[in-house]
Amino acid sequence: MNEVRRSSRRTRGQRTKRRERYFLRKDVPDDFSTDSDFASDDSFSVSPSRRSSIDFNYSSLFEHHKSSTPIRSENEILSNANQASIRRRDHLYKILVIGDLATGKTSIIKRYVHRFFSQNYRATIGVDFALKVVNWDENTVIRLQLWDIAGQERYGNMTRVYFKEAVGAFIVFDCTRVNTFESVKNWKADLDSKVLLADGSKIPCVLLANKCDQPKEGIVNNNNQMDEYCKTEGFSGWFPTSAKDNINIDEAARVLIEQILEKESILNVNKDGDEFYIQDDNQERANGKKKCSC
Ligand code: GTP
Ligand code: MG
Repeated sequence: MNEVRRSSRRTRGQRTKRRERYFLRKDVPDDFSTDSDFASDDSFSVSPSRRSSIDFNYSSLFEHHKSSTPIRSENEILSNANQASIRRRDHLYKILVIGDLATGKTSIIKRYVHRFFSQNYRATIGVDFALKVVNWDENTVIRLQLWDIAGQERYGNMTRVYFKEAVGAFIVFDCTRVNTFESVKNWKADLDSKVLLADGSKIPCVLLANKCDQPKEGIVNNNNQMDEYCKTEGFSGWFPTSAKDNINIDEAARVLIEQILEKESILNVNKDGDEFYIQDDNQERANGKKKCSC
């Protein structure tokens, strides 16, 4: 008697196979969910409306299980790593930070690069530099070489030298002092007359209304007027910023980088320039490239 009962029972393997057949089938009869092998619990019963999604999930699960190949050869892993490093792009961009005296240019750079702010004012003499490295996406690293140009340089004759080869700029004014906004036009005209991109177009420039943590004066209180002003004066956009409270500085930088990348993709000027390739000597010779003789 016991022997008969044991032989009529399904083995674990048979039960699993039956379960797989059920989930992979599209035409499951409605009463199938009552099968006590695996649907003894109500929460597991399959209503006609839910069935297709459950079928899909399980099918994809099995597909995934079938297609996953856990063991990869060492060569395959190395070649994937090589491809990843070849695709990696490294950009270096020269960015100008200009505007009137004490508008907060140095403070904005210190906040952006060093995550630091100080109330002390020490006027910049000539020009200062800072480097900000941005991991833009998994294949792109962007290095921003920030040129912090002293406000007093507006009246000097060095700006042509400082502006050379810049690909983007921030013009900063102090939103508590209207006269610094009035100078913005002059800074923009100076910039556009001294630096252009390869196709003769103006470099992307974002306007920063700094010290927005304090009461603002003038047009900066009206967003629509500011938008209109930026459109007519050729700015890529504007942001109320605060170096003190860390407001909108990362966002403004992101917009400037996006504009630069967009220009670059149109011009396609950076096709090889700033990408770093590691190439051995033999390959260079095979490509017919001369080596430096010094
Ligand atoms: P120059 O180098 O002379 O052209 O000036 P700058 O534009 O580099 O100005 P700087 O960053 O040195 O800041 C001038 C003063 O404004 C300093 O006392 C800063 O602490 C102050 N300051 C800068 N940014 C802000 C801000 O967002 N909010 C407030 N409340 N003060 C700020
Ligand atoms: Mg400064």
